Order: sequence, then C-alpha cells, then structure tokens
Amino acid sequence: MNKIEIQIELTQYLFEELSVDDKELILASKNALKLSHSPYSKFKVSCAIRLDNGQIVLGANQENASYPMCLCAEGTALAAVASQYHGRTIEKVAIHVPIDTPASPCGFCRQSFKEYETRMHKKFDYLLAGNTDIYCFQGIDTLLPLAFSSADLNS
Ligand code: THU
Repeated sequence: MNKIEIQIELTQYLFEELSVDDKELILASKNALKLSHSPYSKFKVSCAIRLDNGQIVLGANQENASYPMCLCAEGTALAAVASQYHGRTIEKVAIHVPIDTPASPCGFCRQSFKEYETRMHKKFDYLLAGNTDIYCFQGIDTLLPLAFSSADLNS
C-alpha cells in the first residue's frame, strides 16, 4: 500500500495588495457582473481572461428558462477566446462573485480550463474574487488534481 497525499497552495490577497495589472483584471471582471443574465438563480458570476497580448476577454453566466441550458461565466469567456481570438493564449483568469468570500469554479468549468491549458501548452494563473478576499493560484490542477485529460486518451 502507498499513501499519496496531494496538497494545494492558494495565496489570499486583499485588492490593495495586487499588482496594477491584476487590479485591472479584477475590476474588469467586477464590471462584467452586469453582463450576467441570472433571473432564475439570481446569482451573478463573471469572468475576465487576460490574453498573451494583454487584451481582456469577458464572460458572465447566461441562464435559460430551461435550467439545464444555463451557461457558466467561465464557459462563455473561454468560448469567446476560442472563437474571437484564435491563436492567442491565456495568461490569467479572474472569476468574480458579488459575495464576500470567492466562489470556486464548478467541476464542469474546471474540466474546461484543463482542456484549454492542455491545448495552449501552459498553466494559467487564476484569481478568484469576492467582495473582500481574492484567492490566487497557478494551474487548474490546483482545483482538479488527477484530472482526466487528452494525455489519458493517448496513452
Ligand atoms: N455558475 C457559474 O457561472 N460558474 C460556476 O463555476 C458555478 C456556477 C453560475 C451558473 C448559474 O447561472 C449560477 O451560477 C448558479 O449556479
């Protein structure tokens, strides 16, 4: 028998402690909360993605009267990157919720980030932002250890 332990590392920041670039990304994600269409859950989530050329791409959750059709904020931003900015890679992702403690992306979104990290051959930096705290970490493996990936399909 062999016990395997997996540790994760997050850094907690206050907004004032962030770099100028990170403040800009957090403010962009906060502003993108107004793009949320969430009349059913009344829970707004937004996402701002910084590309390798510095551009910021926005997304927000889009709900539907047919509940299972709801799109998460992260998915809308990733789809915009793939469709509107083909060839660019992602540097940093900010996910914003208008509550004090940051929310963590759902399992579906974690798996989506895994796919984009794999296809862009890099780990992204992540900022999870609430009204007061901001959690930072590198690589979606932090939230999705032992992820299923295309490497499994090809081995
Ligand atoms: N939601 C996101 O946008 N991202 C997540 O990672 C988790 C949940 C949205 C979906 C739905 O519109 C609302 O939050 C409540 O679940």
